[in-house]
Amino acid sequence: MAIDRNDSAGNFFERRNIHQMQGYASGEQPQDHSTIKLNTNENPYPPAPAVAQVISDFNPLELRRYPPPTANAFRDVAASLHGVSRDNLVATRGGDELLRLVISTFCDPGELIAMTAPTYSLYPVLAQIQDCPIMQIPLDDQWQLAPDFCAQVNQAGAKLTLIVNPHAPTGQLLDRQRIAELATNLDSLLLIDEAYVDFVDPSLAHNCLDLVHEFDNLIFLRTLSKGYSLAGLRFGYGVAAAGLIKPMLEKTRDSYNLDLLSQKIATAALQAQAHARHSWQQVREERQRLGMALQNLGLPGPNSQANFLLVSVPASTGSSAAALYQGLKDRGILVRYFDQPRLTDKLRITVGSASENDALLAALAALLKTRARPPENAAD
Ligand SMILES: Cc1ncc(COP(=O)(O)O)c(C=O)c1O
Repeated sequence: MAIDRNDSAGNFFERRNIHQMQGYASGEQPQDHSTIKLNTNENPYPPAPAVAQVISDFNPLELRRYPPPTANAFRDVAASLHGVSRDNLVATRGGDELLRLVISTFCDPGELIAMTAPTYSLYPVLAQIQDCPIMQIPLDDQWQLAPDFCAQVNQAGAKLTLIVNPHAPTGQLLDRQRIAELATNLDSLLLIDEAYVDFVDPSLAHNCLDLVHEFDNLIFLRTLSKGYSLAGLRFGYGVAAAGLIKPMLEKTRDSYNLDLLSQKIATAALQAQAHARHSWQQVREERQRLGMALQNLGLPGPNSQANFLLVSVPASTGSSAAALYQGLKDRGILVRYFDQPRLTDKLRITVGSASENDALLAALAALLKTRARPPENAAD
């Protein structure tokens, strides 16, 4: 007897977990240039001039051939930048592809994936695609890991733990010693998502990548989307012990996951370190100024080591996070509002250029109908 495919509302062929899941809700991506976009943590400063040069020098005839399959030229530049070897590195279509590769390479369907709450909202989605259950361990009142975090993860038998550092959406930083402790104490694989690490204050001398020489369960995620102003390019990479990189590089990666032009652009961008570092410094200076000004508007938030600030909208302002989000949107300014536990009274605001931040502050002041108090404590 023929099976009635209409029984499953047109989704007959979809796997059960895919049918049941919600897809990832991306931040709004208006394509006009008049919107002030402070909602998806892009870098407000331009990519290096070397990027424009690569594009203008590019000969379309080169597209006739397949690109280098494992992006070796890029991997060599990244490896020498970080003091690791090429074998410690896999290049991916954005950091997001690395996350997908790590889950599909190391987690069987049904194996548990641990993460904090809140965290990067793509993690649960990728876990669902692989049909892996998740455990979310709430951060404490100061947005720090619970003291028994490792014990909880080990007891539950997680296969993989995903931690963002600096944390999104709070900007909190775990130092190198804490990362090493986590890698030591966790029985699982540990992915440290360093999407925002370029914006960490250099006075902290924060550098963890060499830990891959010590730990065989530790993977770092890096991306060119934020620090190198290349979110539109889709280029990232993973750094780990060669034994962890090898199966992703040789087995689970798409055969040609990175196109030729992207590889050339990403290599040039990584080589233009002085340019990138200058933009990180500008972001840090604006982060300091913006945090202080937001606090003076009555919107406090914790110090952030990333290129965004998570601010609270206390009831005493006479407004709410949802209302401010909408009010800003009506004025052509996008920030991120998360309708999630512990975040409904908060806004995540990307640090923009000085003029974007000024426009944001003016709009907020008008919406709050408040006069800024003189500077008090810096929020950063
Ligand atoms: C915490 C975190 N990790 C990873 C990514 C991945 O970025 P991309 O795929 O653009 O490299 C993002 C992007 O917003 C992020 O916020």
